[in-house]
Amino acid sequence: MEETELERAEVPFHYELPQEAVSLILSEIYTTTGYNFQDYAMATIQRRLQRRLITERMANAAELIDRLQKFPQYAYKLVADFSINVTAMFRDPQFFNYFRNEVIPELRKESFIRVWVAGCATGEEAYSLSILLQEEGLYERCRIYATDMNEGVIAQAKTGALPLSKMQAYTRNYFASGGKEQFHSYFSSKDEQVYLHAKLLRNIVFSHHNLVDDRSFNEFHVIFCRNVLIYFNHRLQEHVHDLLYDSLGLGGFLALGSRESLRFTKHASQFINMSSLQKIYKRIN
Ligand SMILES: C[S@@+](CC[C@H](N)C(=O)[O-])C[C@H]1O[C@@H](n2cnc3c(N)ncnc32)[C@H](O)[C@@H]1O
Repeated sequence: MEETELERAEVPFHYELPQEAVSLILSEIYTTTGYNFQDYAMATIQRRLQRRLITERMANAAELIDRLQKFPQYAYKLVADFSINVTAMFRDPQFFNYFRNEVIPELRKESFIRVWVAGCATGEEAYSLSILLQEEGLYERCRIYATDMNEGVIAQAKTGALPLSKMQAYTRNYFASGGKEQFHSYFSSKDEQVYLHAKLLRNIVFSHHNLVDDRSFNEFHVIFCRNVLIYFNHRLQEHVHDLLYDSLGLGGFLALGSRESLRFTKHASQFINMSSLQKIYKRIN
């Protein structure tokens, strides 16, 4: 779940876990699971741990550490807490509108298009791209690699399922992003869910990949890494920017979230910022 300003305001809990306790918790998590959160934004880690204390009715960090030491598998619950996976179909519709109008024409000259969606959460961003590429006649020659560190969201993404209750909002996003078809025609519905048509899932490969310690695995024409870097500290952001740069072909496109930027990174001069409003960068050297 993504943290909003409202959510932060609603946490009625003013206990701050001491820094040494947070470090110990992260090190217990690393020992049990292999996930390293040392370079995540500490403010987010702090808030997620505070929420966990409230949910479990624990009074302080010592109780949480005790739980972790007695029941090491409990660490996986905290890993899931740190994976904030809010997403949406055609999230930030103006971004997708820009992508459709300005990036798609440049992709037409490629004989095959490889896209990486890094930090794909439950798949909505990859589904949106799949629909967009289908409408633009590029779907048959594309492969979308959609990855996340969280195995649970990857399993969910593979199903192609979305809650029916969200379809109204997603339909609005779709039209605002420049979509002109019947949005519901891409889905079949059953009970309270809708399912993306198998054809639109076929060219998406969902798999596990951890931006902290996994390597580049291909050279891409387009990389989406949106609303992921905001959860990292400066050092981890730099590491991920290296990885994204190494994974993007010359002339390729990098898309970041609305609150993320390439400015002040060591790769800034290797890209042009295509738009002053949308975070889409083209690699020029
Ligand atoms: C807020 S969601 C963004 C989803 C989507 N990109 C979007 O903008 O709608 C952030 C996602 O990044 C994933 N994530 C966080 N740390 C990661 C890491 N080290 N490697 C890969 N994915 C990570 C989380 O599990 C979560 O699913």
